[in-house]
Amino acid sequence: MLDAMVKLGAPVFAVILSGFAVGATVERAGTPVFCRDVLPVLQKRCQRCHRPGEIGPMPLETYAQVRPWAAAIREAVLRKKMPPWFADPRFGKFADDPTLTPNEIQTIAKWAAGGAPKGDPAQGPKPIAWPAGWSIGKPDAVLEMPGTIPVPAKGVVDYQYVVMPTGFQRDRWVTAAEVRPTARRVVHHVVIYIRPPGSEWLKEAKPGIPYSIPEDDPRHRRLWTTSDMVLVYAPGNPPMRLPKGMAKKIPAGSDLVFQMHYQPDGKAALDHERIGLKFAKGPVVKRVFTLQLGNDTFVLPPGDPDVRVAAYGTLPRETEILSFFPHMHPRGTSFAFHYIHPDGQIETMLYVKPYDFHWQLNYVLAKPRVLPKGAKLEWVAHFDNSKNNPKNPDPDTAVRFGEQSTAEMMIGFFDVTAPVGMDKEGFFVRK
Ligand code: HEC
Repeated sequence: MLDAMVKLGAPVFAVILSGFAVGATVERAGTPVFCRDVLPVLQKRCQRCHRPGEIGPMPLETYAQVRPWAAAIREAVLRKKMPPWFADPRFGKFADDPTLTPNEIQTIAKWAAGGAPKGDPAQGPKPIAWPAGWSIGKPDAVLEMPGTIPVPAKGVVDYQYVVMPTGFQRDRWVTAAEVRPTARRVVHHVVIYIRPPGSEWLKEAKPGIPYSIPEDDPRHRRLWTTSDMVLVYAPGNPPMRLPKGMAKKIPAGSDLVFQMHYQPDGKAALDHERIGLKFAKGPVVKRVFTLQLGNDTFVLPPGDPDVRVAAYGTLPRETEILSFFPHMHPRGTSFAFHYIHPDGQIETMLYVKPYDFHWQLNYVLAKPRVLPKGAKLEWVAHFDNSKNNPKNPDPDTAVRFGEQSTAEMMIGFFDVTAPVGMDKEGFFVRK
């Protein structure tokens, strides 16, 4: 009855009835329905994070789970808060770009505003059978810390390092890698370094035992390394999956070094880290390195709302770039990756704006970009050290480079490929 009247479109009744319809699962003509219209979008763009065991605060897999969130979801997609993604669409094309189309946004918004009806499950997709645990599938090797690391409710935690011997008897070529912390909410990032045999780095650290040096200790500079990385984990990124024929090398006898940056969030936590690795099944034709170009000599004057900080580099050889990963702390507002052509033209390969410290995302190019030998790179970051920046922990100090979030950082990581036989030092040798 209700249905029929609304479909007839009698304006007076429709207005009155819509009041009753809110919260009820009444289908009105033209209103998108959950099963047929909304669920496919959630499966494609949201469930990667919004399912049990992942970082989304609530699962969005079934109608019963989604219904109470309809209004919040509408708000989040209209304001483009969800899914999180900060690449300016004018520059570059990226794999896994989760941006919703205007059509998808309207579908969700109309569905929520129209009483969030369920519709007929037969008209919708089947639930996705998401893997429990590892998203990369069953790893060929798992390395995990023997114990847990306590993270206090508040205060500052020095970067924690854990050396994990791999026991690999031969070189391993890694095509996929996934880090799974147990206390995701306090993990700001985890870097997994590859420490080849014979390396002097962190020699004094005992395997499996968390190791740290306070930032104001003169020995702190010992923590600096040029070691290659398997990956940088930060909440919200999909696991590392390299294109066919490409892999990262873990030389026989290497250790993996886990570097954890914890951010206390008011509730004490116990964290346990593990990494799952998948090895190349077929031939590897390119070796992948993670490089970084940054600036650690800047000063952000107190109260300054817009400070430009740049870093410059020149590629020692023709280089294929796979991805970019901008890294700053709470005062960062934007980060651009430029290639300066020989004629001076500035090409923006990625422009992240706004930069959100809580979303440290990795931007994988849809198609790798090859730059010539001698190519000039310019990474440009902007910072807001004024009191108008709500994330600014202290607008009254001059801020320099440092590990903790009260200090700042300006690093642009990028993954590149090289011939299989080349190591990272060799990459930088100019011929
Ligand atoms: C990369 C992981 C990720 C993806 C993809 C993602 N979310 Fe989220 N979502 C989160 C996290 C983490 C939070 C909690 C922190 C926050 O609000 O930023 C959140 C919060 C939300 C909230 C707010 C909850 C509240 O407390 O008000 C809504 C609504 C939401 N997501 C809906 C969606 C929808 C709809 C999609 C897909 C269109 C989506 N999310 C995609 C990770 C994700």
